[in-house]
Amino acid sequence: MLSTTPPSDRDEAARAVLRRNDRGGFTVPNGRVYPFQWNWDSAFVALGFATFDLDRAWRELETLFEGQWDDGMVPHIVFRAPADGYYPGPEAWGIQRQPLTSGISQPPVAATAARVLHGLSGGDSSRIRALVPKLFASHRWWHETRDPDGTGLVTIVHPWESGRDNSPDWDEPLANVIPQVDVAHLRKDLGHVDAAHRPTHDFYNRVMTLVEEAKALDWEGGAVARKLSFRVCDLGIQSILLRADRDLLTLAEELGFTEEAGALRGWIARGERAMPRLKGPDGLYRSLDLRSGRLSEAVTCAAYLPLYARTALQEDALALKHHLEATRAAAGFSVASSDPRDRRFDATRYWRGPVWLMMNRMIADGLAAYGLTDEANLLRRDSGDLVRQNGFWEYFDPSDGTGCGGPDFSWTAAMWLSWAGSEGNGQALTTL
Ligand code: DGY
Repeated sequence: MLSTTPPSDRDEAARAVLRRNDRGGFTVPNGRVYPFQWNWDSAFVALGFATFDLDRAWRELETLFEGQWDDGMVPHIVFRAPADGYYPGPEAWGIQRQPLTSGISQPPVAATAARVLHGLSGGDSSRIRALVPKLFASHRWWHETRDPDGTGLVTIVHPWESGRDNSPDWDEPLANVIPQVDVAHLRKDLGHVDAAHRPTHDFYNRVMTLVEEAKALDWEGGAVARKLSFRVCDLGIQSILLRADRDLLTLAEELGFTEEAGALRGWIARGERAMPRLKGPDGLYRSLDLRSGRLSEAVTCAAYLPLYARTALQEDALALKHHLEATRAAAGFSVASSDPRDRRFDATRYWRGPVWLMMNRMIADGLAAYGLTDEANLLRRDSGDLVRQNGFWEYFDPSDGTGCGGPDFSWTAAMWLSWAGSEGNGQALTTL
């Protein structure tokens, strides 16, 4: 049943979530489940802040880049202040640098968010000028360190890098990681969230084995990219990076970063040439296990992201429109993170079924760019209804919209403010 909260109250409630999760220049996704700064969360959160506090929005990206490594990598977690209640904390990663960070990255949404903030900043380009070299270094890290042979396909070495942690996309590559640790007793997430909404113990044992492998290589970027026992081209990161390359190229051209613009053009061309290798026989895109050379069997929500990257063909858009119709008929709310008709689908378990609002926003952006405006509007409506009916949950059961994971989640509030909420925030950003 739709709640009767007046619209302006819901906007205010979303702003209150962001303010509550603000730890002074950086925002925690949710104070209990995730008490530190997360990489792609911050990029989406910046879009939310941009609807009412542009200075604070810039700050979110700036603090994220304070965690950037010398080789350009932007870590997936910056442990800015000590906090209990999360595993694996800084000691599990064993990285000696300040601020403390994890050792892997996450989807590079930051340049796309920075371009949006720049567009809202009038004539003042001081903050974007300071950020462009850092963004460029992070893109170079993906295109060089994580594509050591220059194939145009970038590598992830850990499922958490994809941000779609326990997606069926990783079932096969992860099956080849032999668990060397048992960390079940160390987990803290199950103290905050229903176990049926979270990854399994077996998953944790395998992914923490990868952390141990990287530690044994002293986290040296080149060695990690070539030697870890999980090496996959994630369709999500590949697409999000190509889209962010385009946004960064626009910024570089406008601001006179000529050399950087040249390198970006080269990376974009190389990445675009490689995209057909990710297409399955049914015309839908998938992730590629770089160790076995096999495409993922599953078709997940990442399948739509080549639209967001603007690397898809018009015929791909048509195939995705049909796929969306079929999965919607099976699920209820869109976009389910994996196909509800697939045996691997699980309606409440994290990335094996639930709907995520920031994913919907990127998908809707892509659909609209290929002329599929009805479908784009549908995703916006579904996203708005999920919040209206249930609140700012981390993710939602696609069958009935029940909120899952953690409540009062920063990026869900940010997506409401900047996109899904149609009510007068005066600064609605319809597309990225
Ligand atoms: C977690 O701990 O579940 C996070 O998603 C890892 O980034």
